[in-house]
Amino acid sequence: MKISIIGSGYVGLVTGACLAELGNQVTCLDKNSKKIFNLMNGEVPFYEPQLANLVKNNIASRNLSFTNQYKDACKNKIIFVCVDTPDKEGKPNLKNFNSCIRSILKHGKPNTLIVTKSTIPLGTNVKIEAMFSKYNSRNDTNFKLASNPEFLKEGSAVQDFFKPDRIIIGTNEKSSENILRKIYAPLSRNKNKIINMSLSSAELTKYAANAFLATKISFINEISHLSEKTNSNIHDIRKGIGSDPRIGSNFIYAGIGFGGSCFPKDLKALKNSKKKFNLPEGIIEKTISNNEIQLNHFYKKIINAKLINAKKHRIAIWGLTFKPETDDLRESVSLKLINLLASKVHSLHLYDPMADYKEVANELRGAKNIIFYDDKYKAAKECHSIVLATEWKEFWELKAALIKGKTIFDGRNIYDHEYYKKHQVNVIGIGL
Ligand code: UGA
Repeated sequence: MKISIIGSGYVGLVTGACLAELGNQVTCLDKNSKKIFNLMNGEVPFYEPQLANLVKNNIASRNLSFTNQYKDACKNKIIFVCVDTPDKEGKPNLKNFNSCIRSILKHGKPNTLIVTKSTIPLGTNVKIEAMFSKYNSRNDTNFKLASNPEFLKEGSAVQDFFKPDRIIIGTNEKSSENILRKIYAPLSRNKNKIINMSLSSAELTKYAANAFLATKISFINEISHLSEKTNSNIHDIRKGIGSDPRIGSNFIYAGIGFGGSCFPKDLKALKNSKKKFNLPEGIIEKTISNNEIQLNHFYKKIINAKLINAKKHRIAIWGLTFKPETDDLRESVSLKLINLLASKVHSLHLYDPMADYKEVANELRGAKNIIFYDDKYKAAKECHSIVLATEWKEFWELKAALIKGKTIFDGRNIYDHEYYKKHQVNVIGIGL
Protein backbone atom coordinates (compact mmCIF):
# COMPACT_ATOMS: atom_id res chain seq x y z
CA MET A 1 0.00 0.00 0.00
CA LYS A 2 1.12 3.59 -0.54
CA ILE A 3 1.31 5.42 2.76
CA SER A 4 2.59 8.81 3.94
CA ILE A 5 3.75 9.74 7.39
CA ILE A 6 3.69 13.37 8.51
CA GLY A 7 6.27 14.08 11.21
CA SER A 8 9.49 12.06 11.20
CA GLY A 9 10.24 12.03 14.94
CA TYR A 10 10.24 8.96 17.19
CA VAL A 11 6.72 7.83 16.40
CA GLY A 12 6.65 8.82 12.73
CA LEU A 13 10.03 7.45 11.77
CA VAL A 14 9.56 4.14 13.60
CA THR A 15 6.06 3.75 12.12
CA GLY A 16 7.25 4.69 8.61
CA ALA A 17 10.32 2.44 8.61
CA CYS A 18 8.37 -0.51 10.05
CA LEU A 19 5.48 -0.12 7.58
CA ALA A 20 8.08 0.00 4.78
CA GLU A 21 9.64 -3.20 6.14
CA LEU A 22 6.20 -4.83 5.87
CA GLY A 23 6.30 -4.14 2.12
CA ASN A 24 4.41 -0.84 1.89
CA GLN A 25 5.72 2.12 -0.10
CA VAL A 26 6.14 4.80 2.50
CA THR A 27 6.89 8.52 2.17
CA CYS A 28 7.92 10.28 5.38
CA LEU A 29 7.58 14.04 5.62
CA ASP A 30 9.14 16.46 8.04
CA LYS A 31 9.16 20.25 7.89
CA ASN A 32 12.79 20.24 9.04
CA SER A 33 14.71 20.14 5.73
CA LYS A 34 18.04 19.32 7.35
CA LYS A 35 16.53 16.31 9.07
CA ILE A 36 15.03 15.14 5.77
CA PHE A 37 18.35 15.58 3.96
CA ASN A 38 20.12 13.51 6.62
CA LEU A 39 17.39 10.85 6.57
CA MET A 40 17.71 10.56 2.78
CA ASN A 41 21.31 9.59 3.48
CA GLY A 42 20.23 7.06 6.08
CA GLU A 43 21.16 9.20 9.12
CA VAL A 44 18.67 8.77 11.96
CA PRO A 45 18.61 11.87 14.22
CA PHE A 46 18.19 9.95 17.50
CA TYR A 47 19.19 6.63 18.99
CA GLU A 48 16.64 3.85 18.81
CA PRO A 49 17.82 0.22 18.65
CA GLN A 50 17.43 -1.43 15.19
CA LEU A 51 15.97 1.70 13.60
CA ALA A 52 19.03 2.91 11.64
CA ASN A 53 19.37 -0.45 9.84
CA LEU A 54 15.68 -0.57 9.09
CA VAL A 55 15.83 2.94 7.57
CA LYS A 56 18.94 2.17 5.47
CA ASN A 57 17.60 -1.16 4.18
CA ASN A 58 14.24 0.28 3.20
CA ILE A 59 15.78 3.28 1.46
CA ALA A 60 17.88 0.78 -0.52
CA SER A 61 14.82 -1.33 -1.41
CA ARG A 62 13.00 1.90 -2.39
CA ASN A 63 10.18 1.21 0.03
CA LEU A 64 11.07 4.28 2.10
CA SER A 65 11.53 7.83 0.87
CA PHE A 66 11.59 11.28 2.46
CA THR A 67 10.27 14.70 1.56
CA ASN A 68 9.64 18.11 3.10
CA GLN A 69 6.85 18.91 0.62
CA TYR A 70 3.17 18.30 1.43
CA LYS A 71 2.34 18.08 -2.26
CA ASP A 72 4.59 14.97 -2.48
CA ALA A 73 3.32 13.35 0.71
CA CYS A 74 -0.31 14.03 -0.18
CA LYS A 75 -0.08 11.97 -3.39
CA ASN A 76 -0.75 8.95 -1.17
CA LYS A 77 -4.29 8.39 0.01
CA ILE A 78 -3.39 7.03 3.43
CA ILE A 79 -1.71 9.59 5.68
CA PHE A 80 -0.59 8.99 9.27
CA VAL A 81 -0.24 12.15 11.35
CA CYS A 82 2.66 11.71 13.78
CA VAL A 83 3.67 15.31 14.54
CA ASP A 84 4.70 16.24 18.07
CA THR A 85 2.22 17.80 20.49
CA PRO A 86 4.59 19.08 23.23
CA ASP A 87 3.35 20.25 26.59
CA LYS A 88 2.49 23.93 26.85
CA GLU A 89 1.34 25.05 30.31
CA GLY A 90 -0.28 21.69 31.07
CA LYS A 91 -1.92 21.27 27.67
CA PRO A 92 -0.62 19.64 24.48
CA ASN A 93 0.41 22.34 22.02
CA LEU A 94 -1.56 21.69 18.82
CA LYS A 95 0.20 24.27 16.65
CA ASN A 96 2.08 21.69 14.54
CA PHE A 97 -0.86 19.31 14.52
CA ASN A 98 -3.35 21.92 13.27
CA SER A 99 -0.98 23.20 10.65
CA CYS A 100 -0.46 19.62 9.42
CA ILE A 101 -4.24 19.06 9.11
CA ARG A 102 -4.59 22.37 7.20
CA SER A 103 -1.83 21.31 4.78
CA ILE A 104 -3.45 17.92 4.19
CA LEU A 105 -6.77 19.61 3.46
CA LYS A 106 -5.01 21.86 0.98
CA HIS A 107 -2.98 19.19 -0.86
CA GLY A 108 -4.84 15.93 -0.15
CA LYS A 109 -6.57 13.93 -2.89
CA PRO A 110 -10.26 13.04 -2.62
CA ASN A 111 -10.96 9.90 -0.54
CA THR A 112 -7.79 10.28 1.55
CA LEU A 113 -7.82 8.53 4.92
CA ILE A 114 -6.11 10.61 7.62
CA VAL A 115 -4.98 8.57 10.61
CA THR A 116 -4.02 10.40 13.81
CA LYS A 117 -1.22 8.83 15.82
CA SER A 118 -0.18 12.00 17.63
CA THR A 119 -1.53 12.09 21.19
CA ILE A 120 -4.10 14.88 21.13
CA PRO A 121 -6.48 16.14 23.84
CA LEU A 122 -9.78 14.35 24.40
CA GLY A 123 -12.39 15.48 21.92
CA THR A 124 -9.93 16.65 19.23
CA ASN A 125 -10.55 13.77 16.79
CA VAL A 126 -14.30 14.23 16.98
CA LYS A 127 -13.86 17.96 16.29
CA ILE A 128 -11.68 17.24 13.26
CA GLU A 129 -14.19 14.71 11.96
CA ALA A 130 -16.97 17.30 12.17
CA MET A 131 -14.70 19.79 10.39
CA PHE A 132 -13.96 17.22 7.63
CA SER A 133 -17.64 16.55 7.17
CA LYS A 134 -18.35 20.27 6.58
CA TYR A 135 -15.30 20.56 4.31
CA ASN A 136 -16.31 17.44 2.32
CA SER A 137 -19.81 18.71 1.67
CA ARG A 138 -18.41 21.96 0.25
CA ASN A 139 -15.49 20.48 -1.71
CA ASP A 140 -16.51 16.95 -2.63
CA THR A 141 -13.28 15.62 -1.09
CA ASN A 142 -14.57 12.73 1.05
CA PHE A 143 -11.69 12.95 3.55
CA LYS A 144 -11.97 10.35 6.29
CA LEU A 145 -10.52 10.18 9.75
CA ALA A 146 -9.31 7.39 12.02
CA SER A 147 -7.41 7.35 15.30
CA ASN A 148 -4.66 4.76 15.70
CA PRO A 149 -2.82 5.57 18.93
CA GLU A 150 0.72 4.26 19.35
CA PHE A 151 1.95 2.21 22.27
CA LEU A 152 5.64 2.13 21.38
CA LYS A 153 8.20 2.39 24.14
CA GLU A 154 11.39 4.29 23.43
CA GLY A 155 14.31 1.88 23.46
CA SER A 156 12.22 -1.03 22.16
CA ALA A 157 9.99 0.78 19.68
CA VAL A 158 10.85 -1.35 16.63
CA GLN A 159 10.28 -4.55 18.54
CA ASP A 160 7.02 -3.14 19.96
CA PHE A 161 5.82 -2.26 16.46
CA PHE A 162 6.34 -5.77 15.10
CA LYS A 163 5.02 -7.51 18.21
CA PRO A 164 2.17 -5.29 19.40
CA ASP A 165 0.04 -6.23 22.41
CA ARG A 166 -2.91 -4.61 20.66
CA ILE A 167 -3.68 -2.42 17.65
CA ILE A 168 -6.38 0.12 18.34
CA ILE A 169 -8.40 1.30 15.36
CA GLY A 170 -10.70 4.16 16.23
CA THR A 171 -13.18 4.95 13.48
CA ASN A 172 -16.82 5.78 13.16
CA GLU A 173 -17.15 4.09 9.76
CA LYS A 174 -16.34 0.77 8.11
CA SER A 175 -14.22 1.63 5.04
CA SER A 176 -11.47 3.31 7.13
CA GLU A 177 -11.50 0.38 9.54
CA ASN A 178 -11.02 -2.02 6.62
CA ILE A 179 -8.04 -0.08 5.24
CA LEU A 180 -6.32 -0.09 8.64
CA ARG A 181 -7.13 -3.78 9.16
CA LYS A 182 -5.40 -4.50 5.84
CA ILE A 183 -2.32 -2.47 6.78
CA TYR A 184 -1.97 -4.21 10.15
CA ALA A 185 -2.98 -7.72 8.99
CA PRO A 186 0.67 -8.98 8.94
CA LEU A 187 0.99 -8.12 12.66
CA SER A 188 -2.25 -9.76 13.61
CA ARG A 189 -1.94 -13.17 11.96
CA ASN A 190 -1.20 -15.53 14.85
CA LYS A 191 -3.59 -13.87 17.22
CA ASN A 192 -6.09 -11.13 16.53
CA LYS A 193 -4.52 -7.98 17.94
CA ILE A 194 -6.97 -5.52 16.42
CA ILE A 195 -9.53 -3.81 18.61
CA ASN A 196 -11.97 -1.56 16.80
CA MET A 197 -13.72 1.25 18.65
CA SER A 198 -15.03 4.79 18.20
CA LEU A 199 -12.71 7.74 17.57
CA SER A 200 -13.22 9.13 21.06
CA SER A 201 -12.71 5.74 22.77
CA ALA A 202 -9.40 5.27 20.92
CA GLU A 203 -8.24 8.71 22.05
CA LEU A 204 -9.09 7.99 25.68
CA THR A 205 -7.63 4.45 25.56
CA LYS A 206 -4.21 5.91 24.84
CA TYR A 207 -4.38 8.38 27.74
CA ALA A 208 -5.83 5.79 30.10
CA ALA A 209 -3.05 3.30 29.28
CA ASN A 210 -0.28 5.80 30.05
CA ALA A 211 -2.06 7.08 33.16
CA PHE A 212 -2.50 3.55 34.48
CA LEU A 213 1.15 2.67 33.90
CA ALA A 214 2.28 5.88 35.62
CA THR A 215 -0.09 5.11 38.49
CA LYS A 216 1.56 1.73 38.99
CA ILE A 217 4.91 3.49 39.37
CA SER A 218 3.61 6.15 41.77
CA PHE A 219 1.88 3.41 43.77
CA ILE A 220 5.00 1.29 44.23
CA ASN A 221 7.02 4.43 45.02
CA GLU A 222 4.52 5.26 47.78
CA ILE A 223 4.80 1.72 49.17
CA SER A 224 8.61 2.09 49.08
CA HIS A 225 8.35 4.83 51.73
CA LEU A 226 6.46 2.48 54.02
CA SER A 227 9.00 -0.21 53.22
CA GLU A 228 11.80 2.08 54.43
CA LYS A 229 9.95 2.99 57.64
CA THR A 230 9.30 -0.67 58.50
CA ASN A 231 12.78 -1.91 57.58
CA SER A 232 11.33 -4.04 54.79
CA ASN A 233 12.70 -4.75 51.31
CA ILE A 234 10.83 -3.32 48.29
CA HIS A 235 12.34 -5.99 46.00
CA ASP A 236 10.71 -8.74 48.00
CA ILE A 237 7.44 -6.79 48.16
CA ARG A 238 7.51 -6.25 44.39
CA LYS A 239 8.01 -9.96 43.78
CA GLY A 240 5.37 -10.78 46.38
CA ILE A 241 2.65 -8.65 44.82
CA GLY A 242 3.75 -9.14 41.19
CA SER A 243 3.25 -12.89 41.35
CA ASP A 244 -0.51 -12.26 41.51
CA PRO A 245 -1.53 -12.17 37.81
CA ARG A 246 -4.19 -9.58 38.61
CA ILE A 247 -1.36 -7.22 39.60
CA GLY A 248 1.42 -8.41 37.25
CA SER A 249 5.17 -8.20 37.76
CA ASN A 250 5.91 -5.55 35.11
CA PHE A 251 6.15 -1.83 35.74
CA ILE A 252 6.23 -2.00 39.52
CA TYR A 253 9.87 -1.09 40.05
CA ALA A 254 10.31 1.63 42.64
CA GLY A 255 12.79 4.32 41.63
CA ILE A 256 13.29 8.06 41.40
CA GLY A 257 10.06 8.49 39.47
CA PHE A 258 8.92 8.47 35.87
CA GLY A 259 10.07 10.85 33.14
CA GLY A 260 10.13 10.99 29.35
CA SER A 261 8.14 12.79 26.72
CA CYS A 262 4.90 10.88 27.36
CA PHE A 263 3.85 10.15 30.94
CA PRO A 264 4.35 13.65 32.42
CA LYS A 265 2.73 15.34 29.41
CA ASP A 266 -0.18 12.91 29.07
CA LEU A 267 -1.01 13.01 32.77
CA LYS A 268 -1.08 16.80 32.73
CA ALA A 269 -3.34 16.70 29.68
CA LEU A 270 -5.73 14.29 31.41
CA LYS A 271 -5.75 16.47 34.53
CA ASN A 272 -6.61 19.38 32.32
CA SER A 273 -9.42 17.49 30.57
CA LYS A 274 -10.88 16.53 33.96
CA LYS A 275 -10.87 20.19 34.99
CA LYS A 276 -12.62 21.09 31.76
CA PHE A 277 -15.37 18.58 32.54
CA ASN A 278 -15.56 19.73 36.19
CA LEU A 279 -14.53 16.33 37.50
CA PRO A 280 -13.09 16.18 41.04
CA GLU A 281 -9.38 15.50 41.66
CA GLY A 282 -8.42 11.85 42.16
CA ILE A 283 -5.80 9.25 41.28
CA ILE A 284 -4.42 11.06 38.24
CA GLU A 285 -3.60 14.24 40.15
CA LYS A 286 -2.10 12.16 42.97
CA THR A 287 0.04 10.19 40.53
CA ILE A 288 1.52 13.47 39.30
CA SER A 289 2.20 14.86 42.78
CA ASN A 290 3.62 11.54 44.05
CA ASN A 291 6.14 11.63 41.22
CA GLU A 292 7.37 15.04 42.37
CA ILE A 293 7.53 13.80 45.97
CA GLN A 294 9.62 10.83 44.85
CA LEU A 295 12.36 12.97 43.32
CA ASN A 296 12.48 15.14 46.42
CA HIS A 297 12.59 12.07 48.65
CA PHE A 298 15.66 10.75 46.85
CA TYR A 299 17.31 14.17 46.77
CA LYS A 300 16.90 14.45 50.56
CA LYS A 301 18.43 11.01 51.02
CA ILE A 302 21.58 12.28 49.32
CA ILE A 303 21.66 15.65 51.06
CA ASN A 304 20.91 14.21 54.51
CA ALA A 305 23.37 11.36 54.27
CA LYS A 306 25.98 13.49 56.14
CA LEU A 307 28.78 11.76 54.33
CA ILE A 308 31.31 14.54 54.52
CA ASN A 309 31.09 18.30 54.44
CA ALA A 310 28.72 18.98 51.55
CA LYS A 311 30.88 21.79 50.21
CA LYS A 312 33.70 19.29 49.65
CA HIS A 313 31.49 16.50 48.44
CA ARG A 314 32.01 15.21 44.91
CA ILE A 315 29.27 13.10 43.40
CA ALA A 316 29.33 10.99 40.26
CA ILE A 317 26.00 10.71 38.47
CA TRP A 318 25.67 7.68 36.24
CA GLY A 319 22.80 7.83 33.77
CA LEU A 320 21.37 11.07 32.39
CA THR A 321 18.69 10.01 29.90
CA PHE A 322 15.12 9.48 31.11
CA LYS A 323 15.60 5.71 30.87
CA PRO A 324 18.08 3.25 29.34
CA GLU A 325 18.40 2.43 25.61
CA THR A 326 17.57 5.95 24.51
CA ASP A 327 19.39 9.25 24.15
CA ASP A 328 16.21 11.14 25.04
CA LEU A 329 16.64 13.70 27.83
CA ARG A 330 13.06 14.98 27.88
CA GLU A 331 11.70 15.18 31.44
CA SER A 332 14.71 13.20 32.64
CA VAL A 333 14.48 12.79 36.42
CA SER A 334 18.26 12.48 36.52
CA LEU A 335 18.67 16.00 35.07
CA LYS A 336 16.12 17.37 37.55
CA LEU A 337 18.13 15.82 40.36
CA ILE A 338 21.36 17.32 39.03
CA ASN A 339 19.73 20.76 38.95
CA LEU A 340 18.76 20.33 42.62
CA LEU A 341 22.16 19.03 43.70
CA ALA A 342 24.47 21.36 41.77
CA SER A 343 24.45 24.25 44.24
CA LYS A 344 24.70 21.97 47.30
CA VAL A 345 27.92 20.06 46.62
CA HIS A 346 31.48 20.70 45.46
CA SER A 347 31.08 19.12 42.02
CA LEU A 348 29.06 16.70 39.93
CA HIS A 349 30.86 14.24 37.65
CA LEU A 350 28.52 13.05 34.93
CA TYR A 351 28.51 9.96 32.77
CA ASP A 352 25.99 8.49 30.34
CA PRO A 353 26.59 5.89 27.61
CA MET A 354 24.41 7.62 25.02
CA ALA A 355 23.40 11.18 25.97
CA ASP A 356 24.63 14.13 23.93
CA TYR A 357 26.63 16.11 26.51
CA LYS A 358 26.05 19.41 24.68
CA GLU A 359 22.30 18.89 25.05
CA VAL A 360 22.77 17.93 28.70
CA ALA A 361 24.79 21.11 29.37
CA ASN A 362 21.97 23.18 27.82
CA GLU A 363 19.48 21.61 30.23
CA LEU A 364 21.60 22.30 33.30
CA ARG A 365 20.99 26.01 33.77
CA GLY A 366 24.67 26.89 33.41
CA ALA A 367 25.95 25.19 36.59
CA LYS A 368 29.73 25.66 36.70
CA ASN A 369 30.66 22.67 38.87
CA ILE A 370 29.75 19.98 36.35
CA ILE A 371 32.27 17.79 34.57
CA PHE A 372 31.49 15.26 31.82
CA TYR A 373 33.27 11.93 31.36
CA ASP A 374 33.39 9.26 28.69
CA ASP A 375 33.99 6.50 31.23
CA LYS A 376 31.96 5.76 34.34
CA TYR A 377 34.91 4.76 36.52
CA LYS A 378 36.85 7.87 35.53
CA ALA A 379 33.79 9.92 36.49
CA ALA A 380 33.67 8.20 39.87
CA LYS A 381 37.40 8.19 40.60
CA GLU A 382 37.66 11.45 42.57
CA CYS A 383 34.13 11.18 43.97
CA HIS A 384 32.89 10.29 47.43
CA SER A 385 29.64 8.84 46.18
CA ILE A 386 27.90 7.58 43.05
CA VAL A 387 24.27 8.16 42.13
CA LEU A 388 22.73 5.54 39.84
CA ALA A 389 20.00 7.46 38.06
CA THR A 390 19.26 5.28 35.00
CA GLU A 391 19.46 1.51 34.83
CA TRP A 392 21.71 1.16 31.77
CA LYS A 393 22.84 -2.47 31.45
CA GLU A 394 26.49 -1.48 31.79
CA PHE A 395 25.78 -0.45 35.40
CA TRP A 396 24.47 -3.87 36.28
CA GLU A 397 27.87 -5.42 36.84
CA LEU A 398 30.33 -3.24 38.70
CA LYS A 399 34.02 -3.69 39.37
CA ALA A 400 33.92 -3.71 43.16
CA ALA A 401 37.55 -2.55 43.42
CA LEU A 402 36.81 0.62 41.45
CA ILE A 403 33.90 1.72 43.64
CA LYS A 404 35.48 0.73 46.94
CA GLY A 405 34.89 3.17 49.79
CA LYS A 406 32.24 5.13 47.89
CA THR A 407 28.62 5.36 48.91
CA ILE A 408 26.15 4.30 46.23
CA PHE A 409 22.80 6.07 46.02
CA ASP A 410 20.83 3.60 43.96
CA GLY A 411 17.90 5.52 42.47
CA ARG A 412 16.91 2.70 40.16
CA ASN A 413 17.25 -0.26 42.51
CA ILE A 414 19.39 -1.98 39.91
CA TYR A 415 20.98 -4.48 42.23
CA ASP A 416 19.93 -7.31 44.22
CA HIS A 417 21.37 -5.86 47.39
CA GLU A 418 23.07 -9.17 48.18
CA TYR A 419 25.68 -7.97 45.67
CA TYR A 420 26.41 -4.88 47.71
CA LYS A 421 26.57 -6.88 50.91
CA LYS A 422 29.02 -9.33 49.38
CA HIS A 423 31.33 -6.52 48.30
CA GLN A 424 30.74 -4.49 51.48
CA VAL A 425 29.50 -1.49 49.51
CA ASN A 426 27.69 1.18 51.48
CA VAL A 427 24.42 1.58 49.60
CA ILE A 428 21.43 3.82 50.08
CA GLY A 429 18.58 2.62 47.89
CA ILE A 430 14.85 3.19 47.63
CA GLY A 431 12.44 1.16 49.73
CA LEU A 432 15.23 -0.62 51.62
C1 UGA B 1 5.50 5.16 27.47
C2 UGA B 1 4.57 3.93 27.46
O1 UGA B 1 5.19 2.86 28.18
C3 UGA B 1 4.31 3.48 26.01
O2 UGA B 1 3.41 2.38 26.01
C4 UGA B 1 3.71 4.65 25.22
O3 UGA B 1 3.49 4.32 23.87
C5 UGA B 1 4.66 5.85 25.29
O4 UGA B 1 4.88 6.20 26.68
C6 UGA B 1 4.01 6.98 24.55
O5 UGA B 1 2.99 7.49 25.01
O6 UGA B 1 4.46 7.29 23.43
P1 UGA B 1 8.14 5.59 27.24
O7 UGA B 1 7.84 7.03 27.53
O8 UGA B 1 9.05 5.24 26.10
O9 UGA B 1 6.76 4.79 26.93
O10 UGA B 1 8.80 5.00 28.56
P2 UGA B 1 8.47 3.85 29.64
O11 UGA B 1 9.28 2.66 29.36
O12 UGA B 1 7.03 3.66 29.79
O13 UGA B 1 9.07 4.53 30.96
C7 UGA B 1 8.54 5.75 31.47
C8 UGA B 1 9.22 6.11 32.78
O14 UGA B 1 8.78 5.23 33.82
C9 UGA B 1 10.72 6.05 32.77
O15 UGA B 1 11.22 7.18 33.42
C10 UGA B 1 11.03 4.77 33.55
O16 UGA B 1 12.28 4.80 34.17
C11 UGA B 1 9.90 4.79 34.58
N1 UGA B 1 9.59 3.46 35.15
C12 UGA B 1 9.15 2.45 34.36
C13 UGA B 1 9.70 3.23 36.53
O17 UGA B 1 10.09 4.12 37.31
N2 UGA B 1 9.38 2.00 37.06
C14 UGA B 1 8.94 0.99 36.26
O18 UGA B 1 8.65 -0.11 36.81
C15 UGA B 1 8.82 1.22 34.89
